Amino acid sequence: MATELHRQVNSPEKESGQEQEDGSGGAAVRVRSLTRSFDGRAVIDNLQLDVPAGEFVVLLGRSGCGKSTLLRVLAGLDREIEGEVLVPRRKAVAFQAPRLMPWKRVWRNVLLGLPGRPGRAVAERALKEVGLDHRVDAWPKTLSGGEAQRASLARALVREPDLLLLDEPFGALDALTRITAQQLVAELWQRRGCAVLLVTHDVEEALLLADRVLVMDGGVIAHQVRVDRDRPRDIADPLLAELRTELLDRLGVRAPEPAVHKVA
Ligand SMILES: Nc1ncnc2c1ncn2[C@@H]1O[C@H](COP(=O)(O)OP(=O)(O)OP(=O)(O)O)[C@@H](O)[C@H]1O
Ligand SMILES: [Mg+2]
Repeated sequence: MATELHRQVNSPEKESGQEQEDGSGGAAVRVRSLTRSFDGRAVIDNLQLDVPAGEFVVLLGRSGCGKSTLLRVLAGLDREIEGEVLVPRRKAVAFQAPRLMPWKRVWRNVLLGLPGRPGRAVAERALKEVGLDHRVDAWPKTLSGGEAQRASLARALVREPDLLLLDEPFGALDALTRITAQQLVAELWQRRGCAVLLVTHDVEEALLLADRVLVMDGGVIAHQVRVDRDRPRDIADPLLAELRTELLDRLGVRAPEPAVHKVA
């Protein structure tokens, strides 16, 4: 199914503030010569990026390299940009902190900001999809970290996105909850068929989830690897181990050497 892309127009010579249609079927993201500067410093510096419809892309990069800045631009939350950014109209974003409104019950949080006064049943369906149907009427402060993150995912899903943007969604979760949340995102992606761009610091998470892993550095996509393996994947797979070393190297981290056991 071809996704219609829309231009995020920012520069004054174009129709300011309006999105413009573009017939780029088959793509979920097209970025050309994107630059975003803060106080004269280009954090994103002439960046190019293409994401085909339905692809699962993971974005790695050192802290402060501009990953969240890029995600915010793609989400349409930051339009102070130069260059061309094409994204689907239906897109959704979830951040590391679930950002639930404490004075609204979970189901109302899920519907927050949705156009057209959708009913409770819409929220219930999305909450069921993320395994949170027993917490529909709960107050956000009574949710565990993992439950709050699932509520945040449900809020993204009700938007029926063609592009799902996830900024370190598992960053605050404990190791076990994190694995469950990773599996949930993998399942949702397979079921929904939307393109996903997920930011993480976890190279193994990237290799387990992604079709393609990107490394951001110096304001551009400096490196990429394709992960040509069926799912579910085993992190002990030799190909993944090889890619892990390559990515850690690109990130400037030396992969730990395998333990050497000396025999007397
Ligand atoms: N609104 C802003 N005003 C000024 N500088 C900003 C602003 N937003 C981001 N920056 C700067 O841009 C750079 C990139 O920030 P960004 O949040 O995109 O990094 P990141 O790659 O997501 O890092 P992390 O992995 O730590 O989340 C940082 O140096 C940050 O200080
Ligand atoms: Mg960030």
